[in-house]
Amino acid sequence: MGTAAETGAPLELGTVCHVAGDEHRRILRETRLSTPNLGSRSFKADPYPFYARLRETSPVTRVSLPNGAPAWLVVRYDDCVALLKDQTRFVKNPLSVATEGAPARAAWMPGIARSLSQNMLDLDAPAHARLRRVVQKAFTPRLIEGLRSQIQATIDRLLDRFASTREMDLIRDFALPFPVTVISEMLGVDEEDRARFHRWSSVIVAADTSRWHALRAAPSAVAFLRYARRLIRSRRKDPRDDLTSALVAAEDAGDTLSEDETVAMIFLLLVAGHETTVNLIGNGMLTLLEHPAEHASLRRDPGLVPSGLEELLRFEGPLLMATERYTRDDVELAGVPIPRGSLVYPVIASANRDEHQFTHADSLDLAREPNRHVAFGQGAHYCMGASLARLEGKLALGALLTRFPELRLHAPRETLRWRRGLLLRGVENMPVLLR
Ligand code: HEM
Repeated sequence: MGTAAETGAPLELGTVCHVAGDEHRRILRETRLSTPNLGSRSFKADPYPFYARLRETSPVTRVSLPNGAPAWLVVRYDDCVALLKDQTRFVKNPLSVATEGAPARAAWMPGIARSLSQNMLDLDAPAHARLRRVVQKAFTPRLIEGLRSQIQATIDRLLDRFASTREMDLIRDFALPFPVTVISEMLGVDEEDRARFHRWSSVIVAADTSRWHALRAAPSAVAFLRYARRLIRSRRKDPRDDLTSALVAAEDAGDTLSEDETVAMIFLLLVAGHETTVNLIGNGMLTLLEHPAEHASLRRDPGLVPSGLEELLRFEGPLLMATERYTRDDVELAGVPIPRGSLVYPVIASANRDEHQFTHADSLDLAREPNRHVAFGQGAHYCMGASLARLEGKLALGALLTRFPELRLHAPRETLRWRRGLLLRGVENMPVLLR
């Protein structure tokens, strides 16, 4: 998921509001001096100490984004959950807060096409609830479970190419092509169209919200949209056993998706399910390599994989923050007043390390129970692809562990490039020795 805030420029911590008087000013001064660039590669390599400090001193904090817009970070577990569940005071669509300074359109992805504005991650009730209900009729756990053998076959095909080689780049050669392949197969993209579909999708998902990227991605987005419309029309006439046919047929109390809504949904599934899954595999494997004892216990005991995957999602999840919310009115969160129309980010990676929620929050415990992490969000916008992501994660990590038990990093950790940007967290490259 990309956003307007997905940039590497420096952020400046603005105010620390929950402490009064001189103490407030002291913390403000100190925090200002030491505020890192929150979107930079170096900060992304280890953001946890900074968020630990914020949890202690300023759990609801105002920052300035590089484009000059102010935003608020919410870093404690309870506050993040409260914010994510509160659809009354915190809304997704900035247009529902008529106020100066609120952007004219949702910022999390480029406004390449009008039809994409119908995407449900940017909408509030009742429009969001209606879309989600209809789409859930298609995106069922049964449909996901039915994909198991197809997903396993995709993994095997991708990894078979390395059956006798010594090294690979885990991101470039496996984690990146994997989710795009899964989603195109799910949608029912024909074999002969897959190469083109992959090309367009890769350009689209690589684009951030800068004008330059949007411009470069525009031809691919147009081609993608044209293709999606053709696919939808063809499945309407001649349904098959795929997700596009299920979306076209999905119906709730007589209500169905329009063509624009179906296109937007396909686009959202592609974008929301892409880099998140890449990071799940990349961060998951990197964490295991840095924890040899846990790595070994997972290889010995495959029964640990389900709880282990949840712990990897908590400990080094694919997203640092959930997507943006806007305050509908002047509100108070954790005693901090936030003005109407403010942009607010729940920092879910910080919530997942909150010592008040998780014992030994900074330790990896693959058998952790209970583990109520918020890597998939909470509330109305809770990740629709969570069961697909879990299945992909289990099968992909399981295959890497069994095929390449000696897999190890083939470069010093400090040389791995962390992706720039506020929301997502993952490495761009990960050279590994397979045997
Ligand atoms: C490990 C991988 C993934 C993680 C960590 C993840 C995380 C999230 C989070 C945190 C949200 C909520 C965002 C918010 O409230 O601002 C979300 C929403 C969403 N995710 Fe995922 N996601 C993952 C994979 C996927 C996959 C594979 C798909 C589908 C192919 C998907 C589809 C969606 C959709 C459609 C939404 C919007 C739901 C709504 O607005 O009601 N995600 N995801």
